[in-house]
Amino acid sequence: MSTTTSILFNNKKIVPKEFNKIASKYDFATAMSHGYQDDLNKSGSLLQLKGDELVVDLCCGTGKSTVAFKDKITTGKIICVDNSEGMLAVASEKFADEIKQGKIEISLQDAMNLNFAPNSVDAIFMAYGLRNMPDYEKCIENLFSILKPNGQLVIHDYSLSNHPISKPLWFILGYGFIVPFCTVVSGSSTIYTYLIKSVLKFLQPNEVKSLLEKKGFKNVEIVNHANWRRLFFHSFRAVK
Ligand SMILES: C[S@@+](CC[C@H](N)C(=O)[O-])C[C@H]1O[C@@H](n2cnc3c(N)ncnc32)[C@H](O)[C@@H]1O
Repeated sequence: MSTTTSILFNNKKIVPKEFNKIASKYDFATAMSHGYQDDLNKSGSLLQLKGDELVVDLCCGTGKSTVAFKDKITTGKIICVDNSEGMLAVASEKFADEIKQGKIEISLQDAMNLNFAPNSVDAIFMAYGLRNMPDYEKCIENLFSILKPNGQLVIHDYSLSNHPISKPLWFILGYGFIVPFCTVVSGSSTIYTYLIKSVLKFLQPNEVKSLLEKKGFKNVEIVNHANWRRLFFHSFRAVK
């Protein structure tokens, strides 16, 4: 691990600064990742919404995760939260019309220190966010607190299955393809090296489920993705 990646890994507070550097290239780099938006859409479809809810897209980045469910909201509101100004600038441009209409609000906040009242949010979507938190337990505790009773949480992240091939395959895919390719596309290797490492260290699906249950969530479901993707990605739906 390079010194910068290691600093990033040990101090996740500076992760958004690295996202600022690649913000303008993020949509292009992820468009090259086969199935990126389809996977998000699948997780977005797990949100059971009537249309009038207040939904927080936590760690929304450039808003690809918001796209996964925004059409389900008609009279309600989506607050897109991230603490990278660069990523939010791209999201603001993408959702200029919805922001004007008051359907989407962009909010610069740290996911570990959210500015929402307890019991005030109907649903939270968190895609590729939990893994970046310095303290998973504290984060889930905070999310539980701001959700209304019966509020929904959907998490989508790289969470390697316990199949023996998952880790070695991720290692090969990561260092053999993702890091070199994304470094060329985005001009920065740091955040992608961090990505590979953080996925290797992140919780496995059953551990995420246990954590959600430990923090009080009920009806916790693990949702697999199609074919080989089930080795690397998982979605989780839980209710307060
Ligand atoms: C991999 S991107 C995912 C973006 C989007 N959800 C998607 O699916 O494309 C992770 C995002 O998490 C944000 N992030 C990381 N740590 C954060 C924190 N503590 N608070 C808020 N956002 C954070 C980063 O700035 C980045 O935009």
